[in-house]
Amino acid sequence: MPKLSQSALHPAYPIRTPRLLLRPLSTNDVDALLAYRSLPDVCRYVPFEPMTREVVKDRLATVWANHGLTHEGQALTLGIELAATGQLVGDAVLFWHSREHGGGEIGYVLHPDHAGHGYATEAAHELLRLGFDDLGLHRIVARIDERNEPSARVARRLGMRQEARLVHNELFKGEWSTELDFAMLADEWPAHRTVQN
Ligand SMILES: CC(C)(COP(=O)(O)OP(=O)(O)OC[C@H]1O[C@@H](n2cnc3c(N)ncnc32)[C@H](O)[C@@H]1OP(=O)(O)O)[C@@H](O)C(=O)NCCC(=O)NCCS
Repeated sequence: MPKLSQSALHPAYPIRTPRLLLRPLSTNDVDALLAYRSLPDVCRYVPFEPMTREVVKDRLATVWANHGLTHEGQALTLGIELAATGQLVGDAVLFWHSREHGGGEIGYVLHPDHAGHGYATEAAHELLRLGFDDLGLHRIVARIDERNEPSARVARRLGMRQEARLVHNELFKGEWSTELDFAMLADEWPAHRTVQN
């Protein structure tokens, strides 16, 4: 019987990648978060609506307050900061869905002014590393609206396999959404760990 080794995740911050620092969000980030999380275009294919200052503050005090993962059902949201300037340009999330199945999920959001440089891919690559190498997950997925082509390209660049195309499976923000399901297994991760994005 396969043995899963997840216990908990307590990263040392900031986490450094070639060009980024990943670290928990704080109340100092309210303006920077609002600058992109309030934009309708950014929210089009994500579950949240354009955020107000109050919503951002509430999230900082609740779901974004985790600095680690100790129990299934939790999510770890990290700010994506440019190492060169200290500017917060986005955030990325690692969900721990199931201890029994070793299941997790990733997501990412960037300020549009900072798209097109590979920052989301670089941050998401680090989330896969945290999920597989440090938490011990067995399988990490990304669920993406088919119309969200930049996001699907991120998943493909990471080396995630497209496993499913669920046609009109959710009524999402008033329209049928066709969902692409991407996944990577822990066994597949070593082949992608050192890939330069
Ligand atoms: C999804 C999202 C994060 C993708 O942003 P992105 O900037 O396209 O992704 P990256 O930051 O990884 O950048 C990749 C692009 O930069 C280019 N690039 C330029 N320099 C690069 C470098 N040094 N390294 C890697 N890629 C580089 C890549 O070629 C790629 O362009 P392409 O997709 O046209 O081929 C962004 O569109 C977004 O925030 N959308 C709104 C929120 C959202 O929908 N999130 C996903 C929910 S499922």
